[in-house]
Amino acid sequence: MIDGVPAAAAINGADAWIRKASPATIAAAAGLLRAGRLVVFPTETVYGLGADATSEEAVAQIFAAKRRPQFNPLIVHVTGLDAAERIAVFDPRARRLAERLWPGPLTLVLPRRSDCGLSLLVSAGLDTVAVRAPDNATARSLLDACERPIAAPSANISGGISPTMAADVEPELRNAVGCVLDGGACRIGIESTILDLSGATPVLLRPGGIAREEVQALAGPIALAGSDAPVRAPGMLRRHYAPHRPLRLDASDARPGEALLGFGPGFRDAALNLSPSGDVVEAASNLFAMLRALDRAPGFAAIAVAPVPAQGLGIAIADRLRRAAAPADVLDEGNDDRGPAAPCILPDQAFDA
Ligand code: TXA
Ligand code: MG
Repeated sequence: MIDGVPAAAAINGADAWIRKASPATIAAAAGLLRAGRLVVFPTETVYGLGADATSEEAVAQIFAAKRRPQFNPLIVHVTGLDAAERIAVFDPRARRLAERLWPGPLTLVLPRRSDCGLSLLVSAGLDTVAVRAPDNATARSLLDACERPIAAPSANISGGISPTMAADVEPELRNAVGCVLDGGACRIGIESTILDLSGATPVLLRPGGIAREEVQALAGPIALAGSDAPVRAPGMLRRHYAPHRPLRLDASDARPGEALLGFGPGFRDAALNLSPSGDVVEAASNLFAMLRALDRAPGFAAIAVAPVPAQGLGIAIADRLRRAAAPADVLDEGNDDRGPAAPCILPDQAFDA
């Protein structure tokens, strides 16, 4: 589907949506990304399902394509430390790790810079961002050519196995994806190690391609995610973004003092509308920005949200709205700051993507 580039089928008999990585196919794939399309590309860990990380619409397509049931935040890929410092706040500890271990399979969770220009959905509305510089020639050329950070989870349908070869990418992703860049087998084959450096003590959110000992030698003692917290039911992420104003779900109209967040053509008088045409992908791309806007809008004391159909990304939207509407003591025990903060990823969730 890249204009002007011969199909891989013509070259090596492979499936036509898979393009062997070359300067021409990488340039074309970068063009697709810049145009808001999804592209599958190799990294040294697993193949990623990439989107322009600065575009809410493009990032929303990732969740739709993967059928991810909730907006689990995504890793943002960059060329290196300079690019990473434009989107995240690095302290000396984080800089030391990046200087020594990048490019490579280490993802750092850091505070988002206020001027980062990234989609809010890429962080699932949190004030942190997960960032890494991949050590793979095709990935690096794609990042160079794209000139934008690339958000990418593993290129599989949610719950499936991460692909480590282009041919492993499920045909089910075909309609959602502009092309698959074939860079051969992934050198490492398991996902990156994720280290949360947004607090005083580094927390290992996911073991992965770089050993904990190697990270610990540079970062000092590391805590394990969930080790200091009681085990919770899967899906009970703590401290997610929630508006400060009370949120009422399944509203058909606004009560006095409420700002109405509509969905679909029936909500022309709403303060804001997640998608006037009723498109759940568009709604997902607007969700966090619109909740934030209505949380700040003068003249209102509460937010009411219209029902969103439980189909496709609508399920993820409903999940986030339910968390955002829950009383602080239900989902947020002991946390009196209900604003954006880092989540506690439980070990069994850390692998679910
Ligand atoms: O090796 C990898 O990391 C691959 C390749 C494509 O780079 N990517 C990958 O992404 O495994 P994904 O989406 O499958 O896993 C990302 C993990 C999720 O468990 C998510 O919860 C966590 O990173 N994560 C992302 N942003 C976060 C944040 N701001 N705070 C805490 N966890 C975050
Ligand atoms: Mg994954």
